[in-house]
Amino acid sequence: MNILGFESSCDETGVAVVSFDAGEMPRLLGQALHSQVQMHEAYGGVVPELASRDHVRRVLPLTEAALAEAGLHVRDIDLVAFTRGPGLAGALLVGAGVACGLAAALCRPTLGIHHLEGHLLSPFLSADPPQFPFVALLVSGGHTQLMRVDAVGRYELLGETIDDAAGEAFDKSAKLLGLGYPGGPALARLAESGSGNAFELPRPLLHQPNLDFSFAGLKTAVMTTLKRLGAEATPEQRADLAASTQAAIVEVLVRKSMRALRETGLRRLVVAGGVGANAMLRSELGAACTRLGAKVHYPELHLCTDNGAMIALAAAMRCQAGLAVLSNEHRFSVRPRWDLAEAGQS
Ligand code: KG4
Ligand code: ZN
Repeated sequence: MNILGFESSCDETGVAVVSFDAGEMPRLLGQALHSQVQMHEAYGGVVPELASRDHVRRVLPLTEAALAEAGLHVRDIDLVAFTRGPGLAGALLVGAGVACGLAAALCRPTLGIHHLEGHLLSPFLSADPPQFPFVALLVSGGHTQLMRVDAVGRYELLGETIDDAAGEAFDKSAKLLGLGYPGGPALARLAESGSGNAFELPRPLLHQPNLDFSFAGLKTAVMTTLKRLGAEATPEQRADLAASTQAAIVEVLVRKSMRALRETGLRRLVVAGGVGANAMLRSELGAACTRLGAKVHYPELHLCTDNGAMIALAAAMRCQAGLAVLSNEHRFSVRPRWDLAEAGQS
């Protein structure tokens, strides 16, 4: 079965083809991706209207590229999947509209996928896929969640951020430091030459006996520190502040992930979402998991941020699990706000 998947929930247009045979792991046959990062950079963040318009421009050429890489004709597609939510409404509608239009023309069914389900299943496309059950740490620009994952579609929320997401904390702190958008990779680069112990920054909720996160106070602390340093802040101090910010975010993510593993008794951790590309997070999680006798799984680096492959994969795994409610009506709606635990069984 060949599945064409569309991702357009935010600032990446992704299209991919995934194929599977009964009882076998799905394989990625071809994919194409366009990131709008450069376009939004000038505005310091994603401009929703510009995002939608760019998805419109990119989506069909990317579809042709993904199909060409897969060596398939569009008629070879059996199912068209798309990100139904959560995300920017206008951006989601582009992917959903193109997916359903194409499916209608081909007389094929469609399947709407939850964006975060795509992220958390994405390690199944890696050379060393995880096994169920596992704890998933979802860390993206819009979400920070710990989930217990027992099977495809069986997701239990263990904890989540009560304010900013981890990626947002990276992005907002980077903006305060005058770094570009998206801030995560830029802040991580600056942090390489700084000391993570130079500034004492808050680690909210770290010692609370729950699995929730809070990152809004960190951004305020970065702002206050920068004000205190004033215009005379040296490049060394800025690097130290970047490193201290990264250290605070990473420590909270690692400590809460370990607590989730201990509380559930599980010994497998899957890390997904853009922040999962962070090198310090990877090395600290690796060390902590080794101490606990747990194994950590990541998607391949190019599948950490938004892409079409994870959407086609999630559709494939839903079909294999008998959970795909396929629609032949080609009427569609998007869900800009959508709870993953609720989406799991739907
Ligand atoms: O999953 P994603 O591509 O998009 C969302 O669904 O939000 O995640 C984007 C987020 C941004 O906040 C970005 O700054 C962050 O992931 N990010 C990083 C790194 N690469 C991307 N944060 C820290 N270190 C990185 N290397
Ligand atoms: Zn994402």
